[in-house]
Amino acid sequence: MINYFGEDIRQFYSGAIALVTGASSGIGKELSIQLVELGVTVFGVGRNIEKLQSIVTDTQGLMGQFIPFTMDLSNRDNCEKVKEAFNDKLTRLDILVNNAGISHFSPFEGMDIEDYQYVLNTNLLAPLHITRLFLDLLKKSNRGRIINICSSGAFYGVPFRSIYCASKSGMRTWSQALNLELKRFGIKVLCVAPGSTQTEIFSNSLGSAPKTHRNPGKVAHPKKVSQKIIKTAVSSSGELVISLSDKMILLLSRVIPSVLNKLIKYASASEEEHIYSGRQS
Ligand SMILES: NC(=O)c1ccc[n+]([C@@H]2O[C@H](COP(=O)([O-])OP(=O)(O)OC[C@H]3O[C@@H](n4cnc5c(N)ncnc54)[C@H](OP(=O)(O)O)[C@@H]3O)[C@@H](O)[C@H]2O)c1
Repeated sequence: MINYFGEDIRQFYSGAIALVTGASSGIGKELSIQLVELGVTVFGVGRNIEKLQSIVTDTQGLMGQFIPFTMDLSNRDNCEKVKEAFNDKLTRLDILVNNAGISHFSPFEGMDIEDYQYVLNTNLLAPLHITRLFLDLLKKSNRGRIINICSSGAFYGVPFRSIYCASKSGMRTWSQALNLELKRFGIKVLCVAPGSTQTEIFSNSLGSAPKTHRNPGKVAHPKKVSQKIIKTAVSSSGELVISLSDKMILLLSRVIPSVLNKLIKYASASEEEHIYSGRQS
């Protein structure tokens, strides 16, 4: 793995300190392991202590270190607890990865307020709180990076995933603004659309994923996605769109949104039929 990265990348990460949310599985787990391989001390946050503990075991003997921290980030008090816990451990933070996220599949109509608050709290408000709380430490770094794991759901609204898309489009525009605001402190903000990636996101989602999402065709391995993120974050800020299909979606949304709308309507037709068939109007 380490041979994949050139000398400049290894030098950049060596001895760095990172905080990764959602480190217990999927993209966050792979990112954490690769960062530890590069000599980074990674504080990994998630809810599942067994999964976090297994990363400690898997990363024994590597150049860096993985330090687990269990916390549900879906409320503000808990985000503050994360900062309190690290207050006496950290004098600076070099890399913050806002990765923890949850998906949902359900019509907006009838969706419980608690459910959509939970999705927005986890996907949008937690990254805002965590970033605000750790900004003082990021400003003390000479290589500050904020990596926000977003989604192509930020480029366009997908039926029955409205709140997920709302959370990710909020994250995207917030990242754009933050990147410009924090330039003066030498902090680069990178907003990433990872593309369909083989993780537990759909089995962990609220509501059941439709067949098309359970088997979304071409999916990337989180290792490849993480490599790309780690490489890009060294020198780039702004947006990283990894998959070809997400690049096409972004292009269509800018150039011919009416075509994209038709494609999305077509792609979600069977899901719509399944949800509304037999319903009284
Ligand atoms: N996989 C894809 O195809 C895809 C595509 C586009 C964007 N993304 C984005 O990529 C990010 C990572 O997702 P993934 O695909 O790697 O899914 P995943 O395997 O389900 O991982 C999600 C991570 O977030 C953590 N998490 C969820 N809710 C949390 C909460 N309330 N508090 C603390 N941690 C929480 C989970 O940890 P615990 O279970 O331990 O809490 C887990 O570590 C998400 O933001 C997702 O929206 C994924």
